[in-house]
This record gives sequence, C-alpha cells and structure tokens, in this order.
Amino acid sequence: MDERPALRLTGVERRFGSHLAVAGLDLDVAEGEFVTLLGPSGCGKTTTLNMIAGFIEPTAGRIEIGGERMDGLPPFRRDLGVVFQDYALFPHMTVAENVAFGLRMRGLGRDEAARRVADALAMVKLSGLDARRPLQLSGGQRQRVALARALVIRPRMLLLDEPLSNLDLKLREEMRIEISALQKQLGIATIFVTHDQGEALAMSDRIAVMRAGLVEQIGPPVEIYRHPRTRFVAEFIGAITLIEGQVRGMEDGMLRVGTAAGDLLAESDPPPPPGTRVTLAIRPERIALSSAPPPPAPGRATLEGTVATAVYVGSRTELRVTVAGGSPVVAETMDTPGSRLARIGASVWMTVRAEDCRALPE
Ligand SMILES: Nc1ncnc2c1ncn2[C@@H]1O[C@H](COP(=O)(O)OP(=O)(O)OP(=O)(O)O)[C@@H](O)[C@H]1O
Ligand SMILES: [Mg+2]
Repeated sequence: MDERPALRLTGVERRFGSHLAVAGLDLDVAEGEFVTLLGPSGCGKTTTLNMIAGFIEPTAGRIEIGGERMDGLPPFRRDLGVVFQDYALFPHMTVAENVAFGLRMRGLGRDEAARRVADALAMVKLSGLDARRPLQLSGGQRQRVALARALVIRPRMLLLDEPLSNLDLKLREEMRIEISALQKQLGIATIFVTHDQGEALAMSDRIAVMRAGLVEQIGPPVEIYRHPRTRFVAEFIGAITLIEGQVRGMEDGMLRVGTAAGDLLAESDPPPPPGTRVTLAIRPERIALSSAPPPPAPGRATLEGTVATAVYVGSRTELRVTVAGGSPVVAETMDTPGSRLARIGASVWMTVRAEDCRALPE
C-alpha cells in the first residue's frame, strides 16, 4: 500500500520582512483527500497556498508533492491546478482559449488540446459555451471556466483559494456540492482555502483551522465542530456558549465543573485536576430545553434560566437565556417567538449531556 501523502509540508515558514505570515506549518494531505484551510483574514492561508503552488518560496521548511521536493521548482513544473478568488481569466480570450492556455504552455498538439478542453468543459457543465468571452458569462460560469482551466492539465493536486466568495449564497451552495462531487469523482487531492465555516464543514474530509500562521487544530468536520480543543477553534466555527468554571473533580469518567450558574458535567481530554479553571463550550443545538425542571438523569446536568431574547430565523428560534452569574447561554427551539419556550421572560431549564459540554483550557 502506498502511504506516501500527496502533499507534505514540514516546518514551512514564510517571513515578509519582520512579519511571520506562516510560522512553521506541518501538514499532510492524503491522495484523494479534500483539506480545507480555514481561518480569519491574515492568518496565512493564501501565503501557504502560494508556497505550495510555487508563486512564492518559503523562508524555511520543506514542501513535497508526491514525495518530490519542490524547492525552487517554478509553478508550471509542479503540475498543480490553481483557482484564485478572482478567477484571473483572460478577458480577450474565449472560454476555450482560456481553458487551453495551460496546454499551449505545455506544448500539447492541437487535436489533443481540443479534446482535453472539451472534456474539461464537459466536467464543469459548460459544453457549448466554448466561443463566449468571460464578460458574456455569469459569475458562476466564470468560476467554472477557472475550474476547467485548472483541471485541463490533469494536475496532481487542486489548489482553490476562496473560489466561491464572489458568488451569491444560492450559487455558492450549488457550487459547493458540484466541486465536492467532481473532486471525489476525479479522486484528486485538494486544498481549499476559505474563511466561510459553512463551506468548510460541508466540503472537507478534514479542516485545518489556522491562526497566526499555524494550524491550531486539524480533523474531520464533525470533530472540529463537536470537539474543539481550544477556545479559538470553538468560537471560530458555529454559535457556541462559553461559561467559565472550576473543576471540582471526576465522576464516572466525567468532569464535574462548578460555574456561577450551577454545576455542569463535561468532557475533557486529558482531564485537568480539581481546582483548574476551565471554559465550558456548549453548542446551542445540544441543549435540551424544558419549561419545567426535568428529572435528574445520569451523565447530564441542568441549568435554570430566563429567556432574554428570541429571534426567529425560519427553521428555528434562537434564544439567549440569562443564567445566574451573567453570561447568556445561546440555545434554540422549534417553538415560534411568543409561544412556550420562546417567550421573553419565560423560565426554562437547559439540560446538557457531558459529551456535549467541552472543557477547554483557559
Ligand atoms: N507580499 C507580502 N508582503 C508583505 N506582507 C504580506 C505579503 N503577503 C501577505 N502578507 C501578510 O501576511 C499575512 C498573511 O497573509 P495571507 O494573504 O496569507 O492571509 P489570508 O489568511 O489569506 O487572509 P484573507 O482571508 O484575508 O485572504 C498578512 O498579515 C499579510 O498582510
Ligand atoms: Mg487569502
């Protein structure tokens, strides 16, 4: 079995003057894998992609693609398909000419090039639009041309830098599904850059959450969402409530944590000793709401609170519930505003299972 990763970054670093944009990154991407770099603006996502593509050189560290070191190799010798945020299509060329550009650079014969262009356009569902120019296309179609241009060279990897951010929400969601399907069908290792958490959760085999030039946590979407290891990761993805507390001790393998609002049971890996100050992180959809105190049950704890705000978002109502000690708890209910659990001023009980309550180090 070939265990060699499609891409391996080892201690990759990039300085711009005194600024450390990428701070010693380690990352493996398996053959056929879809890895997303997710993080706030300026955390080094594009710089990382540009180093892999060969547009800029690292100031330290090693980049290997298919086991081969990339040091000093120019972009066109790396055989990577790259799509930028702004697509960078040539406005004076037709769709077919834009897609064929990389093949001409590689010296492919005319017939073979025409066949490959037709294949690539079919892949992105643009057959028949060969003769149009970029200005005669919609945003989504332009995005597809850029994708076809990246795929036509039969790259070893696909590098996509926020390719969907210029599209409206509906088109973006459609293209998410199409790009994922195409990537799986071609089985091509892909790095996708975004700061859109929804995109990252929907498309990735693994998400690398970046902060200040480093990967803070990497894992499958469910793990990143449900088991964040740091406060930064917890807050960057999805709505979450953070409650300060202090570890009281262990109970049947769970952590008992005292907070101003009452005790909660939590999970942590590894469990910190009694007395440690921790932050508890709870997702809104993991909180079971009731309008009366629920009977006690093993492995779960209940906080009492008062509904402060109720915002209807269509599929549910988002609540902020005030508990003793101040910070509001974000919860959600199917009730519509004004009814039972979604009435401002209503008393509610919020039950959380230990496995849905993560204790994060301070
Ligand atoms: N050519 C450059 N010269 C100097 N500084 C740079 C250069 N390119 C990037 N930087 C800096 O490096 C840091 C990382 O930039 P990068 O473009 O990789 O961020 P990003 O994560 O892609 O952000 P965004 O989400 O806004 O695209 C930023 O602080 C940026 O200002
Ligand atoms: Mg960027």
